[in-house]
Amino acid sequence: MKTALITGASSGLGEVFANLFAKDGINVVINASPRSEKKLQDLAKTLEKNYGINATAITLDLSDSGAARKLYEEIKSKKIQIDYLVNNAGYGIVGLKLQDYDPEIFQRMLQLNVMTVSELTMLYVPEMVQRKSGRILNISSIAGYVVPHGLEAGYAASKAYIVSLSEALAQDLTGTGVTCTHLAPGPTRTAFFTTAGLENQSRLNSIFMTADVVAKAGYDAMNKGKATVMPGFTNKAMAFITKFSPSKKLIAKTSGFYVDRGKYKK
Ligand SMILES: NC(=O)c1ccc[n+]([C@@H]2O[C@H](COP(=O)([O-])OP(=O)(O)OC[C@H]3O[C@@H](n4cnc5c(N)ncnc54)[C@H](OP(=O)(O)O)[C@@H]3O)[C@@H](O)[C@H]2O)c1
Repeated sequence: MKTALITGASSGLGEVFANLFAKDGINVVINASPRSEKKLQDLAKTLEKNYGINATAITLDLSDSGAARKLYEEIKSKKIQIDYLVNNAGYGIVGLKLQDYDPEIFQRMLQLNVMTVSELTMLYVPEMVQRKSGRILNISSIAGYVVPHGLEAGYAASKAYIVSLSEALAQDLTGTGVTCTHLAPGPTRTAFFTTAGLENQSRLNSIFMTADVVAKAGYDAMNKGKATVMPGFTNKAMAFITKFSPSKKLIAKTSGFYVDRGKYKK
């Protein structure tokens, strides 16, 4: 039986990914931060009961420096081989100007969205290449395409890194039997925007997609070994317009419109 490691599986897209793998008879190692310990343990029990697979829950704060190696070692000590790596855990800072960020939250976001993803990838890819088999699924974002991105500067830059890294890795893996896919969601109804500090999300209501639809698109693309998937017509249109827009200033302004905190200044 194969095993998938899914980071950030306590809610939203990660929880759907865990269900998709389990439903296909694939064992899962699910991770979230210690604040979601109970939720993660409950999910592991439910997956085992519903699908007859093995589910291992590991809570670890992946925004800590060195957390990727710690997670890797813990999984190794349990003698579990990872065949699918889903780098999903992430959060954003939205609706704030860069100069208004809390520096510690910004640093932790970069550690989680950029460094942990890179480190986990670097830990697992060589083993997969050696076995000539394995799949990586990274979660990027439309924000990584719509750059520069007003009021989401740090988050958009972190996701632009994921877009670039994933597409380059997909090229480097050609012919190895290992694939790298990145899923670029647009606004998706999860806890993401609340965690990111956006209390008023009414502007996003008409473009929100569901986590079920978005995660399934990523899961299917990963299984086909595709390099990229961006679900939703509006998202594709936004990415296309950005690519050919003559004004980066205009893009930054319009993209910021959806996440402007307005009276919620911080
Ligand atoms: N929702 C959107 O509109 C959207 C759009 C584009 C891209 N994305 C990306 O999709 C991915 C999943 O987000 P989501 O929308 O499903 O949001 P979500 O419901 O907030 O889920 C985020 C997951 O990441 C975990 N996580 C956060 N900080 C962590 C940390 N320090 N250590 C370990 N785990 C941590 C959370 O665990 P805890 O419960 O422990 O916090 C949770 O399981 C993220 O990479 C996000 O950037 C989301």
